[in-house]
Amino acid sequence: MKHFAYILSLVIISSGLVFSQAQTRVDQCVSCHNDLETPEAKLFQHDIHRMKGLSCADCHGGNRYAEDMDQAMDKKAGYIGVPKGDQISSMCAKCHGDAEKMKQYHSSLPTNQFENLKESVHGRLDLTGNARIAQCSTCHNAHGIVSVKNPASPVYPLNIPATCAKCHANPTYMRTYDPSLPVDQLEKYRTSIHGIRNKKGDPKPAECASCHGSHDIKSVHDAKSSVYPLNIPATCAHCHSDAAYMKQYGIPTDQFEKYSLSVHGVALLKKHDISAPACNSCHGNHGAVPPGVESISKVCGTCHALNADLFSSSPHKKAFDERKLPECETCHSNHEILTPTEKMLGTTADAVCSRCHTEKENPKGFIAAQQMRTLMDSLIHEEAKAKMLVNEAEQRGMEVSDAEYKLRDAHQALLQSRTAVHAFNEEKFAETVKPGLATAALVEGEAKGAVEEYYFRRMGLGVATLIITILAVSLFLYIRRLEKNGKHKV
Ligand code: HEC
Ligand code: HEC
Ligand code: HEC
Ligand code: HEC
Ligand code: HEC
Ligand code: HEC
Ligand code: HEC
Ligand code: HEC
Ligand code: HEC
Ligand code: HEC
Ligand code: HEC
Repeated sequence: MKHFAYILSLVIISSGLVFSQAQTRVDQCVSCHNDLETPEAKLFQHDIHRMKGLSCADCHGGNRYAEDMDQAMDKKAGYIGVPKGDQISSMCAKCHGDAEKMKQYHSSLPTNQFENLKESVHGRLDLTGNARIAQCSTCHNAHGIVSVKNPASPVYPLNIPATCAKCHANPTYMRTYDPSLPVDQLEKYRTSIHGIRNKKGDPKPAECASCHGSHDIKSVHDAKSSVYPLNIPATCAHCHSDAAYMKQYGIPTDQFEKYSLSVHGVALLKKHDISAPACNSCHGNHGAVPPGVESISKVCGTCHALNADLFSSSPHKKAFDERKLPECETCHSNHEILTPTEKMLGTTADAVCSRCHTEKENPKGFIAAQQMRTLMDSLIHEEAKAKMLVNEAEQRGMEVSDAEYKLRDAHQALLQSRTAVHAFNEEKFAETVKPGLATAALVEGEAKGAVEEYYFRRMGLGVATLIITILAVSLFLYIRRLEKNGKHKV
């Protein structure tokens, strides 16, 4: 028993010695390459992997304690040489894709980078067909890797634009993959508020990866892309609705909230109508600046061409330009654009016109607004009345297809009048409203006629029924009489 304890303590002591010897043994890969002053060795001095006690051999394999070069860099000792293509990402993923292994290094970083990269647009095979478009080292380099929060990292926010632009601003390279893909993202980005601030050293405004992601970047046409129209508002809101994050800039953080309530937000986010504008439709993708005063009508006009044309030839065009008022936004706001109604028109307190037109100030506009509202109200009233009468006739089973057809014309005239408002010219407005009123009157006439005919027919039917009933009763009585007379005879 004594013997056994003795042997055991010897084993423990000697293994402790071996262990501490290993701790102090020189890493020959680092040592020899340092002596050779190879660039990799220099970069490795401040590499995060070195800080974590890792070495050349943890990536390249080999025997790190062999002083002899051939022994150190021996395939039998697991040396893999210089990795190429997908070997690179697999090498990194040996640790970064293995949660257990990363835990051993006391790391709680995510371990999904390679999985995500494979599914991303950069995970497709490159032109050689042998490897993916991007490997881990494409964006992170292979040596001199530092934390992504370190300003020296190629994926630190201030450096990301250049890292992505290595490829995306290279037309010769990009053309070989997709000749239709623009290569102006960096150039445009530098003109945006985001890009200008980024260049000045502010890491908070959006850079390429804040909008597109990093390992999971998808084609912009992929519904899963963070910049697919339906996902854009949330992508922008990630920062723009975060009051704490945006505090230092002193701009509102309600854009998403307001946008969600707007006609555009409801159409896009609720009805999934991708013809409705997302944030970038008005602000641009890479040149993300707020549209300047003079370009707002151009932005809205790309989709609402008729309104914009009418506005441009209206008296407001010059008046608004002189006063530097934004064209559409002045009446409709920018993010909380709601469904317009006739209540906006006229001189009541809630009408937009009365913000600038009073009986004393700009009286011509005041009078015009009043009269336009009167015209609009009468068209709405007449159209509704015509519709009611047509419905009434239809419920009574009358043939009203012609009136229904004309009713559609009247409704069309109503819609056109809501657009025609933008000429801000009473006479021109009347030209659109009046045919509508005439059509509505015509429909009313036809529908009334149909209803009258119904009553006439019903009365006719009533009279006829009465006559028939009288006839039937008298016939019955007559037969009864005949029968009675007959009995007498028998
Ligand atoms: C005694 C010096 C010495 C030691 C020890 C040493 N190397 Fe090297 N290594 C060199 C020299 C010299 C070269 C360049 C000559 C060549 O390409 O063969 C080189 C080249 C390399 C290359 C590039 C190979 C290529 O094909 O371009 C890698 C990778 C490398 N070493 C990794 C390691 C690793 C990992 C270790 C430790 C396991 C190690 N080295 C140990 C001297 C050494
Ligand atoms: C985090 C993993 C990792 C570590 C640690 C690492 N390397 Fe590398 N090394 C790579 C990768 C990946 C490549 C190939 C990628 C490339 O082309 O840049 C590479 C390439 C090389 C090359 C070839 C360079 C060339 O231009 O052909 C040499 C030499 C080299 N490493 C030496 C070393 C030495 C020496 C150390 C330690 C001081 C070391 N590496 C540590 C991943 C690593
Ligand atoms: C297209 C460029 C690109 C490629 C390729 C790439 N990365 Fe990254 N990586 C980034 C960016 C950008 C960040 C910063 C992420 C952020 O700020 O959200 C990052 C962050 C990281 C981080 C920090 C933790 C995290 O997930 O945010 C690790 C670790 C990492 N990358 C490892 C890898 C590995 C391993 C690979 C290869 C499988 C790889 N990366 C490929 C761009 C890239
Ligand atoms: C032997 C395991 C191992 C290998 C192989 C490895 N790494 Fe790492 N890597 C680590 C550990 C451990 C950390 C530190 C993690 C931490 O601080 O939480 C790290 C940190 C990083 C970081 C910094 C993440 C941060 O904190 O922001 C990046 C980027 C990174 N590695 C990229 C790579 C790339 C690229 C490769 C392949 C060329 C690679 N790694 C290969 C283990 C490894
Ligand atoms: C503020 C968010 C944002 C930033 C920052 C941003 N992008 Fe984009 N990016 C978008 C949007 C939105 C689209 C277009 C989506 C669409 O067309 O529906 C887009 C489209 C793209 C496309 C597809 C081709 C094209 O131009 O339409 C590429 C490639 C691209 N971006 C790369 C980049 C690069 C590289 C950077 C950094 C220099 C960058 N992006 C910065 C939001 C952004
Ligand atoms: C190694 C070169 C390279 C780097 C670095 C690179 N990309 Fe790409 N990227 C490509 C290529 C090539 C494609 C086209 C793939 C295709 O169309 O098949 C692409 C596609 C894209 C697309 C999809 C465009 C579309 O078709 O809708 C986006 C978005 C994108 N990259 C953003 C980025 C961002 C953001 C970064 C930086 C974090 C980046 N890329 C870094 C080469 C690169
Ligand atoms: C990573 C966070 C972040 C993301 C994501 C982001 N932004 Fe920004 N944005 C900022 C910061 C920070 C500023 C600077 C504010 C300033 O200078 O007033 C800014 C400025 C702006 C401005 C100029 C505001 C002004 O008048 O000063 C507009 C417009 C804008 N962003 C629109 C967008 C749109 C649209 C998107 C989505 C496609 C988006 N942003 C995504 C952070 C972000
Ligand atoms: C229908 C067009 C349109 C849409 C959609 C839109 N904006 Fe705007 N946005 C504007 C206009 C117009 C301005 C005001 C510009 C001015 O007055 O110079 C503006 C201003 C801004 C500003 C500057 C600060 C402010 O509130 O005045 C930010 C930031 C902004 N928008 C972000 C967003 C975000 C985020 C979204 C999506 C959730 C979005 N916008 C959707 C048109 C739009
Ligand atoms: C990308 C195209 C697009 C842009 C840009 C755009 N809109 Fe719209 N807008 C639409 C669509 C589509 C609808 C219909 C939404 C629905 O289904 O209700 C709409 C609806 C409206 C409506 C409500 C119409 C109604 O009859 O209910 C108003 C008002 C409006 N937009 C004003 C504007 C203004 C002002 C701007 C500029 C600041 C603007 N829009 C920019 C596409 C756009
Ligand atoms: C001076 C105020 C004013 C300005 C400026 C203005 N609108 Fe209007 N807009 C109105 C009023 C009032 C209505 C509602 C008419 C109704 O429903 O009776 C309206 C209705 C609309 C409608 C719904 C009717 C339709 O045409 O489908 C759209 C869309 C619209 N405006 C877009 C725009 C655009 C785009 C601009 C800029 C070119 C603009 N508006 C400028 C006052 C204005
Ligand atoms: C933001 C202020 C503003 C709003 C809101 C506004 N206007 Fe005006 N309007 C003006 C100014 C300024 C003029 C030019 C008056 C002048 O030069 O005497 C003008 C001129 C007009 C004119 C031409 C008058 C003339 O002198 O021939 C008409 C008509 C008119 N507005 C109608 C309207 C109607 C209708 C509305 C509501 C839908 C409206 N305006 C809303 C500011 C506004």
